[in-house]
Amino acid sequence: MRVLVTGGAGFIGSHVVEALVARGDEVVVVDDLSTGHRSNLAAVASSITFLQADIGAGLLGHLEGDFDGVVHLAAQVSVVRSVAEPLVDVRTNGAGLVHVLEAARRHGKAKVVYASSAAVYGEAPPPVDEDAPCRPLSPYGIHKHAGEHWLAFYESVHGVPGASLRFFNVYGPRQDPSSPYSGVISIFSKLAKAGERLMLHGDGEQSRDFVFVADVVTAVLAALDDRSSAPPVNVGTGTATSVRFLAETLINLAGQGELAFGPPRAGDIRHSRAKVERLRTRYGLEAKTPLEEGLAALLPSV
Ligand code: NAD
Ligand code: UD1
Repeated sequence: MRVLVTGGAGFIGSHVVEALVARGDEVVVVDDLSTGHRSNLAAVASSITFLQADIGAGLLGHLEGDFDGVVHLAAQVSVVRSVAEPLVDVRTNGAGLVHVLEAARRHGKAKVVYASSAAVYGEAPPPVDEDAPCRPLSPYGIHKHAGEHWLAFYESVHGVPGASLRFFNVYGPRQDPSSPYSGVISIFSKLAKAGERLMLHGDGEQSRDFVFVADVVTAVLAALDDRSSAPPVNVGTGTATSVRFLAETLINLAGQGELAFGPPRAGDIRHSRAKVERLRTRYGLEAKTPLEEGLAALLPSV
């Protein structure tokens, strides 16, 4: 297959690219390197084509030839930043997605696998299944939800097949801890390894469904290869972990670090946990890496 991966220099993207290359696919990566890094693709640099481009500015003129698949991961990824700077989110997660769908339409009507998010649900009672009402609480969640509708529109009107995967909280090697907008596991792993204070926002009893990146890659490839039309699918483990328990586990694994408590974060969802039946029935998959195992695999690379 010839596959376009947007956001391929990022955390999840670089793992997807490695998996595609490993199975013999031809891969073109588009990334503006705003949060991704060329070094994430070091292991496959000589096997792929890399284009530095901003999806918010459009992809016309950047791409050549047809694709069999598009994995769309490029995004402004922070819920917090989307609240602070909603127009940045509009540009990348709103308009940028439509530019990618246009590129898919013009370059072979390739199947598009879209990184949607648990953030589409807002404060839904957990565990949440895909038919629950979507009431996003942030610009990020609003655009991820709108993105699913854009995929359905391109499928029904332009014949571009699409699959929306609602990732829950993904973690693993190469998740960048360097910004205040980074994912909690990347931040806490770095702090624990350095023996510093792990700052819980609020009481730390809020919980998330943390899913290991290798399990997410398996779901992305299954959706890419599936030629039938599919509704959105949750990609999570079905298990929730409190942020406090997470911090304590990392402190134990690292043998150092300590808990600290700060003010709660505006717009933070309290509890998030996936129902995972559809992942099983649709793609025959389970995200099965236990948290302790995933964290143990992650820590040496931090
Ligand atoms: P990441 O920041 O590592 O990856 C995003 C990539 O997109 C980066 O390489 C970045 O440089 C690139 N990018 C950003 N804006 C761009 C633009 N305008 N043009 C081109 N490239 C651009 O984050 P990630 O965690 O790997 O996220 C990948 C996708 O998965 C995103 O769509 C994100 O919303 C989604 N997602 C992530 C999680 C999670 O827990 N990490 C959960 C749900 C959904
Ligand atoms: C994350 C993803 C988002 C994805 C969503 C799906 C990132 C940056 N964000 O958002 O792309 O769509 O999951 O569920 O990967 N926390 C602390 N201390 C910290 C940092 C965070 O207590 O130093 C807490 C937060 O308040 C929150 C929890 O940890 O309650 C998770 O935060 P975060 O990793 O930023 O993820 P989400 O906001 O859930």
